[in-house]
Amino acid sequence: MNRLRLAVIGFVVLATAILAGHGAMAGDGRPALPQAKGSVCVEDTQVMRRNHMDLLKHQRNDTLRQGVRGGKHSLAECVSCHATDGADGKPVPVTAEGQFCQSCHSFAAVSIDCFSCHATVPADPARTAIR
Ligand code: HEC
Ligand code: HEC
Ligand code: HEC
Repeated sequence: MNRLRLAVIGFVVLATAILAGHGAMAGDGRPALPQAKGSVCVEDTQVMRRNHMDLLKHQRNDTLRQGVRGGKHSLAECVSCHATDGADGKPVPVTAEGQFCQSCHSFAAVSIDCFSCHATVPADPARTAIR
């Protein structure tokens, strides 16, 4: 077998191993994300990819320091659009494997503590936990 062939095979094996390690991929090197509810996000998709962390932190400061509620970049609203329903019809936590927030964060090796307080599934009107 010539060298070029070996190199090609080596590349394919490596690429397959990398893809397998990251679970489902979109095909362009980013993780596949579950479909959101609704047709548009609170900002442009590109803006959200880059800046959602800053938008969320800003919104949090507005709420905690100035008591502003119902803001555009609410964490509870992210969850209501971005959580999917499981086969049993119950919402799957956005932090579960393969779910919206988690797939990207595990891909990028980001860990967030927000969900130790905030709900990971859309608000249930019967519950009064912080959303
Ligand atoms: C120790 C518990 C705790 C942690 C951890 C926490 N929060 Fe909060 N957060 C709260 C509480 C309490 C409120 C106020 C809820 C209210 O009064 O409406 C709040 C409010 C918010 C709000 C405004 C309400 C809304 O849904 O828009 C945002 C945004 C927010 N937090 C984002 C975050 C983000 C992002 C993180 C992680 C980086 C985070 N929080 C981590 C407890 C927490
Ligand atoms: C009204 C429903 C809705 C709300 C609320 C919402 N989103 Fe979205 N989000 C969407 C839709 C629809 C898309 C577009 C997906 C696409 O372009 O294929 C999207 C896209 C995104 C993307 C880009 C995903 C990608 O394809 O790379 C990120 C990141 C994101 N949202 C985060 C958030 C965060 C964080 C919040 C809360 C501050 C939020 N979203 C609130 C519906 C919503
Ligand atoms: C398109 C990929 C993608 C999606 C989807 C995504 N994130 Fe992120 N998120 C990132 C990346 C990448 C970072 C790290 C950015 C950095 O370090 O500058 C990050 C960082 C964050 C941070 C800041 C963490 C810190 O310690 O500063 C918060 C908060 C956050 N994301 C919340 C969310 C929430 C909530 C969702 C689901 C509604 C979500 N993200 C979905 C890619 C994503």
